Amino acid sequence: MAEPEVTIFADAAALARAAASRWLALAETAVAARGRFSVALSGGSTPRALFELLGQPPFAAALWAQTHVFWSDERLVPPDDPGSNYRQAQDLLLSRAPLPAANVHRVHGELDPQAAAEAYTKQLHAFAAGRGWPRFDLVLLGLGSDGHTASLFPGEPDPAEQRVPVLAVTADYQDRPARRVTFTPLLINAARHVLFLVSGADKANALAATLRGPHDPARYPAQRIRPVDGALTWFVDQAAARRL
Ligand code: 6PG
Repeated sequence: MAEPEVTIFADAAALARAAASRWLALAETAVAARGRFSVALSGGSTPRALFELLGQPPFAAALWAQTHVFWSDERLVPPDDPGSNYRQAQDLLLSRAPLPAANVHRVHGELDPQAAAEAYTKQLHAFAAGRGWPRFDLVLLGLGSDGHTASLFPGEPDPAEQRVPVLAVTADYQDRPARRVTFTPLLINAARHVLFLVSGADKANALAATLRGPHDPARYPAQRIRPVDGALTWFVDQAAARRL
């Protein structure tokens, strides 16, 4: 794996602008090369500013007809639930960008964990034209203050993470919905570009431990993200980077 790119921005707004520009550049490259751009969105609060930017000019005209949106993880709640990562993206971006409905590939959070994971695996398989799972052009990820990413939480990894593209997760997690579906490192590491967006002083310890600490992927799941033949980029703000 090539060395990760780590870029530090003055604040969350500058980080979001840079992420929107990187999204556009990757979309243009992907559409020129393959006629479509496949992106997996992360959840949580950090990507909100990015979604808002992408829903406005000049990004609003950004190749949306050729863009396919998935989610790198999702809480197992109905799509209109305030905790739904799909609903957040729908409210801030998808309702404003002219994306064909068929290009929005949400996790069916209204299902039980195993059924939701199986259904999402089938969606990924279909998108990859029956060849296993897609090689995403871009996977967006966040970092929790405990070091988790997507819905890969600290603790001994499930061996299935290296065998299947999607897993159902029912681990308890702080104050957020616990039942989830997540991309696994197997799927994420197949991507052409993985972009972490990390903002805020509360992430400083987890970011420093992940990037500069000992290799401990059980404790720091984001260390499991090592693209096989793709780029790994960290866009962080100064507050999150203060212990780097
Ligand atoms: C989720 C996210 C999760 C998130 C981190 C960071 O569903 O909650 O996918 O992995 O990216 O928890 O969340 P914040 O951006 O809110 O700090």
